[in-house]
Order: sequence, then C-alpha cells, then structure tokens
Amino acid sequence: MQRVSFSRRRFLSSVGAAAASLAVPSTGGGAMSMKRIAPNRASDSFRADVDLELVAKPGSAPILPGRETNVWRYSARLLAGPADTLTSIADSFLGPILRFTKGQKIRIRLRNELPERHITHWHGLHVPALMDGHPDYAIDPGETFVYEFEIRNRAGMYFYHPHPHEATATQVYRGLAGAMIVDDDEERALGLPSGEFELSFVIQDRTLNDANQLIYGGGMHRSMFGFYGERILVNGRTDARFEVASRAYRLRVLNASNARIYKFAWDDGTPITVLGVDGGLLEAPETRPYVMLAPGERLDVWADFSGRAVGSKLTLRSSRFYGALPRMGGHMMGGMMMESDLPPGSDYPIAVFDVARAVNDSPALPRSLAKIARWREEDAANVGHPAAIEISEAPMSMLLNGQPYDDDIQPGERFPVDSLQIIDIFRARASGGMGGMGGMGRMGMMGRGMGMMLSMRHPIHLHGQQFQIVTRAFEGGDEAYASVRDGFVDSGLKDTVLVSPGERVRILKPFGDFKGRFMFHCHILEHEDMGMMRQFSVE
Ligand code: C2O
Ligand code: CU
Ligand code: CU
Repeated sequence: MQRVSFSRRRFLSSVGAAAASLAVPSTGGGAMSMKRIAPNRASDSFRADVDLELVAKPGSAPILPGRETNVWRYSARLLAGPADTLTSIADSFLGPILRFTKGQKIRIRLRNELPERHITHWHGLHVPALMDGHPDYAIDPGETFVYEFEIRNRAGMYFYHPHPHEATATQVYRGLAGAMIVDDDEERALGLPSGEFELSFVIQDRTLNDANQLIYGGGMHRSMFGFYGERILVNGRTDARFEVASRAYRLRVLNASNARIYKFAWDDGTPITVLGVDGGLLEAPETRPYVMLAPGERLDVWADFSGRAVGSKLTLRSSRFYGALPRMGGHMMGGMMMESDLPPGSDYPIAVFDVARAVNDSPALPRSLAKIARWREEDAANVGHPAAIEISEAPMSMLLNGQPYDDDIQPGERFPVDSLQIIDIFRARASGGMGGMGGMGRMGMMGRGMGMMLSMRHPIHLHGQQFQIVTRAFEGGDEAYASVRDGFVDSGLKDTVLVSPGERVRILKPFGDFKGRFMFHCHILEHEDMGMMRQFSVE
C-alpha cells in the first residue's frame, strides 16, 4: 500500500485560508421535512438522582503544540448527584466522562449554543424513544431539551454524540463526543483495576492544517468512503503516551472516529485479552491475536504490564488489514482519492505505554466475569422468518433495506413491543451484472458509468436494547476477510456490528419496554448522513 501525499499537499494549499473555519457542507436542507417538535421539558414527577446541565457550544482546545484548535465541544455542570459523575479530561476537546450507576435516574438539560440545530444521543443506552436523541427532536440554537431516563443497562462503556440528520458527521468531527461509563453491583464485586489503573481511551482521527485548524477534506470521496484523518487522537491529543506501573490495567476503548476501523494489536505479539465489548463484560475473558474495532464499538481490555522491566515500552498499534477501501482494477481506491497520510488498513501506532515504575502487587485476571442470559432463536417471535437489514451500496447512494432515511416504516421494520426478533444483516444481492450495484440507488447509473463496484465493511448500529450475535457466516475466501476474521468478539452484548462484504450476520435483538421509533444505521457517520439509516417502529 503506497503512501499518498501528493493530493494532500495540493488539497492543503487549495483550501488555504478557508480551512481556518472548517469547510463543511451545508446541513439541514435535505429531503426530510424539518419537524418542529417543542423541546422536552423537565417533569415534576421525575425524581432525579443525577441532574446535570450539558452545553454544546463552540470553543477551542489544544490538539497540537502551538495555536489552539477551534472546536465544538460539550461541557457539563453537575446540579445534583454524586460528585464523581463528571470527570473532565485535561486539555481535551472531548466532553467529560459521565459516570452513572445502573438504576440511577438521570436528568440531563442539553442546551444548544451552536450556530445550528443539534440533538444528543446516548449510544448504547436503553431509553424511551423521546429520550434517545432522535433527529426529529433536534433543537434550534438557544433551546434546551431535557432528557429524563433511568439507567437500565449493565455496567459498560457507552458513548454520547450528536444525532441531527445530515449533520452528525460534521458535529462529531468538530469535537462533540464523550464517553459514558455505567457501573453496577455485579461488576463492582469483581474488583477490576480502577482509579489510576483504569484508563479510558476515546480514539479518533483528524487532519489539521498548518494553523492547527481542523480540515474535513475528501469531498465526494469522503461521502462515499467516509472521512479518514491523517493523525490519530487519543482523548483529543496526538502521540498518546502513558506512564504505567508494572501491573495489570483496565483499558476501556471507544472508537469515536467518523469512519476509521482499527485492528488493535500489541506490537510485541502479546495477544489482546478482552474483558468486554459494547454492552459490558463478557462471561469470561477471551484472547485474540488482534481485535477489530469499528466506529461506535467499545472494547474493554486487560492490559497486563506485570513482569515488564522499568524502562521498557509496549505499543498499542493498529495493524495491517485489507479491504478497508474498495478496489478498482485491483488497486485500492484510497491511493487516488485520499489526502490521508495514514491510509485506512495500514499499520500505525495508537498509544505507547512506558513502564515507569515497578510494583509487585498486580491483581489476577478473574476467570469469570459476568452472567449473560443467552437467548435462543426458538424464543424469537419471528423464528423461521428472520427480519433483514439489507446493505446496498453504490457511489453516493448507500442504503439500508433499499431505501434512504425517511419517515416511512416498511412492514419488516415494525416489531411488537417486548418481543425478541431474529435479524439478518447482509449485503443485498446484485440484481444487475455489476456486483453489488446493479439497478440499485439513485446514482446507480453514474456508478456504472464509472465502472466501480463498491464493497465496503459497514458497522451497523441499532438503537435500543443490546443484541446478541448468533452467527457470522461468510461466503467466499478473499484475503481481505482473512486479515480481519480473527478479530471479532461476538460473545458479548453488542449495539454495533461490523459487517464485511460476503458476510451474513444473524443477531437476536430484544425490543423491550419502550414503544416508538428507534434508529438503525451505519456508524460510518458520512454514510449515516447520506441516508444509510432507517428506523424501527416498536409498537
Ligand atoms: Cu452512535 Cu445512532 O448512533
Ligand atoms: Cu446509538
Ligand atoms: Cu457504511
């Protein structure tokens, strides 16, 4: 895979001064009617254990040495509740870590001080439809939306981020993102490494110009393939480096990148010991030579530095994999289109751990972690008739179930409340002569004309309750799949699953407790904004 920097230079110089303010496409003028629903207000009957104010507004933060970067960011203020609810991350544009406990009742007063519409979504949390950050509830500048919900989730790491239709990618890119950590009794009883021995990593990629300002480059290719930045940020800073003691740590990782998929591996070949995924702990630790982490997914890792010499270091890398971008005539398209110096799928460091002090009291890895009630296909309401999420892709037309995002709910997207459903996620069969794009989508003809066949991996995310992965079947035998297939951890509870071309992923998904409309979409945010999003109606 060759490095491509020619286009980057040209891009940087052509953008010039305009780059000082991030060049973003105009938002909000899309096909969807702009609904005006009065922002939800606080209710008197809701007894909040935690009450906080969350503000989204422009600001600045250091990313590189020198001038600060203009960003949009979350800031929070605790009005009532435990003092450790908010942990701000020093020198970072990221929102504070929000710490909640299962069973707590949470009120969040979201104030929009951005120059455009905004709504925040609590990725992975099982909350009522009104509290889920549906794009229909986006509020205008100056307005406040009050969320009230109970934490029903298991302990785990979750993610808050914007969700206004057609503006999610740009708002996240400008800096609006944060981690949430839920704990519960079951997890606390394990005594996993905590305090200074628990590290949270929010991983993103960004491109900055010479004046340290964000560039959201890539034009039409960015919409098609997603944005790939040329620097990796951990918790909002580049060149992440941590001093650790020679003992075990708990490392909690959230991929908050717009599109970039990571293949986590330790540089010395040590396997990755996985404690948990999106929806919390696994039943028991599992090891993998590497672990894939797509946008929206989380990973809980036992990072053991015990027995390592003071002065040694261990690097967490993203290692090489294939199929990160579609191919054309055998060549990866990235080379011709991306200004990135860090091509997706290449090998690069994410964070370096320097063993700085010796200790002898490292905790032992627990043999078992948690109980997960396994659902069975026989228990599903639609056994024998699985529902489908069909991925179809053509240039500028990435769709789910053959439709862009709209208000119509198709019969296969409606489910009775309190039911368990089997859903198969797969790539739609080509109906014409050209791979996945025959006859599909608004721009199908254009794609045909360009002689392109797209075949990308898509991280499919479903709002609402966490699901279980039943099977992951793969037809074919390409080297691209061989380079990722050992990196999936499918045994835990999930809200996002990476689906490769040729794969059919079967999930069991509960639709419990709450009626209403819940989104499902590709978590490559550029795809989501392009319309690779639909809704389930729970009735
Ligand atoms: Cu993290 Cu609907 O998204
Ligand atoms: Cu979500
Ligand atoms: Cu996608």
